[in-house]
Amino acid sequence: MSAKVTVVGAGFYGSTTALRLAQYDIFDTVVLTDILEGRPEGLALDMNQSRPIEGFETTIIGATTTPEGAGYEATANSDVVVITAGLPRKPGMSRMDLIGINAGIVRGVAHNIAKHSPNAVIIVVSNPLDEMTSLAQIATGFPKTRVMGQAGMLDTARFTNFVAEKLGTTVGAVKTLTLGSHGETMVPVPSRCSVNGKALSELLSQAEIDELIERTRNGGAEVVALLKTGSAYYAPSAAAARMAKAVIEDSGAIMPVCAWVDGEYGISGVYLGVEAEIGRGGVKKVIESALTESEVAALKGAAEAVRAKQADVLTL
Ligand code: LAC
Repeated sequence: MSAKVTVVGAGFYGSTTALRLAQYDIFDTVVLTDILEGRPEGLALDMNQSRPIEGFETTIIGATTTPEGAGYEATANSDVVVITAGLPRKPGMSRMDLIGINAGIVRGVAHNIAKHSPNAVIIVVSNPLDEMTSLAQIATGFPKTRVMGQAGMLDTARFTNFVAEKLGTTVGAVKTLTLGSHGETMVPVPSRCSVNGKALSELLSQAEIDELIERTRNGGAEVVALLKTGSAYYAPSAAAARMAKAVIEDSGAIMPVCAWVDGEYGISGVYLGVEAEIGRGGVKKVIESALTESEVAALKGAAEAVRAKQADVLTL
């Protein structure tokens, strides 16, 4: 398979994503870019030198770029582009506090990507996630199915990890799901959570489940508070890389992602965390599954909150 993926932004999130993608050994080329001169080239050199030890052949190319678009030739004709560009939050900040600064950065990156990789599938991870995904779609003018955001995979993984730790079980035995926004209106879906096929409500009290849900909702902030500089990247990069893999392999895997919702759950015209089938063209299909009435109501609440902010982003 001849495939090329670009990761924009060589911070911890971007560089870890690039390495994970390279180590899958399914791409010919992984391009890593940043506006910090030399950083992407240096990281690429280092990653390439790990190839004989780890045993993968994918070539990593580092390219310094400018906001005006210099250097983007190296990314040309990428099949998938992961946008991690933008600032992470500091302790005490919400993801929404980044909206002003990151809107300008993501808009500029999206324009440059659209110019050089007009057929790419874009996976946005910059925060605030749902708003930046919407902005990237508008800025590229790409079909909505070809632009999606990474959040649900991460939030679901956090929820699963917390449940496994709480019950002292393997993570493989646990299934959880989170939908909605990657923020205040995240919608963990307890009715879809189970451990070895047993409903979560049979294993934990409502108060215990609520506590895990709250910790999941604050999952990113908990890491930020401990790190003090920067935000999480191991779990986030695992999530973004798996999405890119599903695209390039045209796997049809069903994943919780930030996708354009057009009628599902009675919600229309907004980017929101839902389950979707992922393949070569991006989102093949949004999956509407059985939720309880209160879960659907929470999802609708999330949709309205995100819709308002997505409109604001256009003015930034
Ligand atoms: C987090 C950031 C990456 O949730 O949004 O950790």
